Amino acid sequence: MDLIIKNGTVVTASETFKSDVGIKDGKIIAMGSDLNVDGAEVVDANGKLVIPGAIDVHTHLAMPFGGTVSADSYLAGTRAAACGGVTTVFDYPMQRKGMTIKEVIDSKKAICEQDACVDYAYHCIITDLNDGDILNEMESAVEEGITSFKCFFVYKKEGMMVDDGTFVQLMLKAKEVGAMINLHAENPDLIDYNIERFLAEGKTSPWYHYLSRPEHVEAEADKRAVHWAKHYQAPLYLVHMADKEGLEALLEAKQDNPNLFVETCPQYLEFTCDVYKREDGRNFVCSPPMKGQESQDALWKAIKNGGIDVVATDHCPFQSYEKDWGKDDFTKIPNGCAGVENLYPYMLSAANQGKISFNRAIELCSRNPAKIFGCTEKGTIAVGKDADIVIYDPEVDFTISVDNMHSDYDHTIWEGIQVKGYPVQTYSRGRLVYDHGDFVGEPGWGNFVKREKRPQ
Ligand code: URP
Ligand code: ZN
Ligand code: ZN
Ligand code: ZN
Repeated sequence: MDLIIKNGTVVTASETFKSDVGIKDGKIIAMGSDLNVDGAEVVDANGKLVIPGAIDVHTHLAMPFGGTVSADSYLAGTRAAACGGVTTVFDYPMQRKGMTIKEVIDSKKAICEQDACVDYAYHCIITDLNDGDILNEMESAVEEGITSFKCFFVYKKEGMMVDDGTFVQLMLKAKEVGAMINLHAENPDLIDYNIERFLAEGKTSPWYHYLSRPEHVEAEADKRAVHWAKHYQAPLYLVHMADKEGLEALLEAKQDNPNLFVETCPQYLEFTCDVYKREDGRNFVCSPPMKGQESQDALWKAIKNGGIDVVATDHCPFQSYEKDWGKDDFTKIPNGCAGVENLYPYMLSAANQGKISFNRAIELCSRNPAKIFGCTEKGTIAVGKDADIVIYDPEVDFTISVDNMHSDYDHTIWEGIQVKGYPVQTYSRGRLVYDHGDFVGEPGWGNFVKREKRPQ
């Protein structure tokens, strides 16, 4: 063995037990007590939890958006991921009209091969069917391990929106070829109408970002998507759910369609729309916006009772000067916030404080993302799996600040938030990449994760 993590408490989505973990060539090859340490490096995890690395299935790295490019490169975003216990990152490369899926993915591959510090996978954003060519190409993309595609019901003027007909065609094709459609659901016409009205009335503060896309604007689109998924019995994954009404509709529809899945993000669990009244409210502008207390309570309820499947971040940070473009006009604020380094500490801290179990936090951030998106080698600690492992100290107190994060952004919405417990080490396929506050990995270490197709 190359490495043995000794004396820790192993926690997975379903179990908690004392065990040593033996690692060779990036894989977990033995578990139990009294593993033969002959020649292996030994790490003592006494008093610590030994848990699977998180899988953040929602990030936007170096994404052209909002008149600029999101602030974390593939290097910075995956470096930050490693330091937050995230060992696999899913990015959303975007199709520009006319591009094939292969062209979209190939445009990112060379960058990731050089820069990625942890493993990575892609959901390909589809903005145009190219007269049906995209539908024909989906099967070969699935064979290449790209088993999920995303569409937007919004961002019309940015050229990213798809209509219901396109969405349904994608969903049906996904069902046929063993893929998944991920969807950003808000109603674009209502948003445009609200924005036009607010600007005409001189209502330009970030609060009107929220009021232009309030609860019912998201709920309508959630319900529409859920309606199609239900009728066609097709797989669907709703990203960044933030409102109660839409969530409840989805949870109900899940009873008839076991292939309906829902993700929320830590920012919706921590903040409400009140942040848009703050002096720095523009920094919290993302879409969908944070909602009211009732929605946040509903999200937490579904976190606790098993309704929500995944927590992922929608990591899409921008620099302060870019957020400042919208000081006097909320429509000029690039949409998106940071989170990849905060996801796991935040959810584990909720567990550490008794809000949920550690098993549930791991299910939401690692096991379910692996299962839903076909990462068969990841998501748990067991013999044969990738040695993507976090050693977590439940006793330390940690205050999040831009100064102790490892991204390239210059501010964070998480500034000053305190968490109980924190990762002390992260291993990516057996290689130490984060050690007591420091990134110790290397760009180019991360591998492309070729995913299994969904059972049809
Ligand atoms: O505001 C957000 N969420 N920006 C990233 C793009 C998206 O909608 O996911
Ligand atoms: Zn979105
Ligand atoms: Zn109907
Ligand atoms: Zn997103």
